[in-house]
Amino acid sequence: MKIARTIAELRALRAGVSDVGFVPTMGALHEGHLELMRRARIDTAFVVMSLFVNPTQFGPNEDLSRYPRQEARDCELAAEVGVDIAFIPSPDEVYRSTTPTTIHVPSVSERWEGAFRPGHFDGVATVVAKLFNIVAPDVAYFGRKDLQQCAVVSKLVHDLDFAIELRFIETIRESDGLARSSRNAYLTRSARRQAPLLYSTLKTTAHRIWAGADVRASIQQAINTLVTAGFQVDYLALVEPASMDEIDKPTPESRLMATARLDGVRLLDNIPVQEE
Ligand code: PAF
Repeated sequence: MKIARTIAELRALRAGVSDVGFVPTMGALHEGHLELMRRARIDTAFVVMSLFVNPTQFGPNEDLSRYPRQEARDCELAAEVGVDIAFIPSPDEVYRSTTPTTIHVPSVSERWEGAFRPGHFDGVATVVAKLFNIVAPDVAYFGRKDLQQCAVVSKLVHDLDFAIELRFIETIRESDGLARSSRNAYLTRSARRQAPLLYSTLKTTAHRIWAGADVRASIQQAINTLVTAGFQVDYLALVEPASMDEIDKPTPESRLMATARLDGVRLLDNIPVQEE
């Protein structure tokens, strides 16, 4: 695996190569990321991953400085799954302008996570657009765990006419159901034991809703279960995943999603409402 630290290096290594699969990451790689890279390795001839902790998607009181960084280990893992190039730029390489252009993806980025983390999706959309322009992939891979990010990137690609196919890959979980996430590292031992309740509650609720139970009542019941167990629920909703609109009748595509805090750690998860 080759490492490119500048845009010029990346472009030189990528020159003349076609059928490129791309996995953008912020590092601290786990099975979820590796699964995206494995899929890219199977689907495409040449695989690029980026490792960049993007400062513009963190709010002023968020965890930018303590976000887990483990570049050497990440490179080992990416090389093992067959990545061809790791693009690891510095913030100064990515953000060279003092008056940077930013991208705002309206509507879909403004609700849910967007409401709790103002500006977050502008940072995501801007860096993803920049990475797409730098890497020029044919196919790009994102994890479904970040459901709203998938919707934001889909609209970005559609509205700005990027000639890139997006593939969204289902969430990889721990054996007890907890969705893999770099931020799981922040969980205390007792919070880690409690955390799988988020997934099991989503499963029970999705089952109820798909079987015909009232959506609002089922969601309220799920929130009560989580709150009683010590979670602070930011939102729990049945959504249509392209628009992220809340709906009150399930469809085969709809997903039940939640964000809840446990000991100050925000856990995001979502599942299809239709039985898998
Ligand atoms: O999902 C992530 O890790 C980030 O939001 C992404 C897509 C790499 C952009 O910084």
